[in-house]
Amino acid sequence: MNTIISLHSYIAFLALSVVLLAFVNALNGFLTGREFIDSRDRKLSLAGVAFFHLQFLIGVVVYFTSAKGFHAIAELGIGGLNAAARLTALEHPVTNIIAVALVTVGWSRHKKTSDNKAKFKSIALFYGIGLLMILSRIPWGQWS
Ligand code: HEM
Repeated sequence: MNTIISLHSYIAFLALSVVLLAFVNALNGFLTGREFIDSRDRKLSLAGVAFFHLQFLIGVVVYFTSAKGFHAIAELGIGGLNAAARLTALEHPVTNIIAVALVTVGWSRHKKTSDNKAKFKSIALFYGIGLLMILSRIPWGQWS
């Protein structure tokens, strides 16, 4: 069980870094109006969405194996959770599921248009919002 939590903790760093890079790259592309290059822009955005999906899947396993996930709710009930338990058992998972869905929407939408600016816009907007949501609900105090 500790291995899967450690994995969730390490991949979080990779996933957040790659999505941040993809967001900054897309914002730059949108603002400069440059061409969307598949070998660079598409690959970076794909790496971002792939890392987030991997992190999401590991998160689901963590949720049902860690004492700070579903077990906390089963034991204490939603009303019995203190702020720290509420963060890991409720706020972090729910917010991140929505955030991962938004990043996926950004990725899918960019594929549906051939317009360079629209591609960058879709990625910058959805990856940016997803990233902000996730960063707002990381259990920073316990991240090691
Ligand atoms: C893709 C977005 C996600 C990121 C970046 C992320 C990141 C993190 C980080 C940095 C921690 C603290 C790790 C540590 O203690 O060292 C954590 C803990 C946790 N995460 Fe996630 N997570 C994500 C998605 C999810 C999802 C979707 C779920 C559940 C469905 C989840 C469930 C949990 C739980 C239960 C803990 C507490 C584990 C424990 O300390 O026992 N996470 N997450």
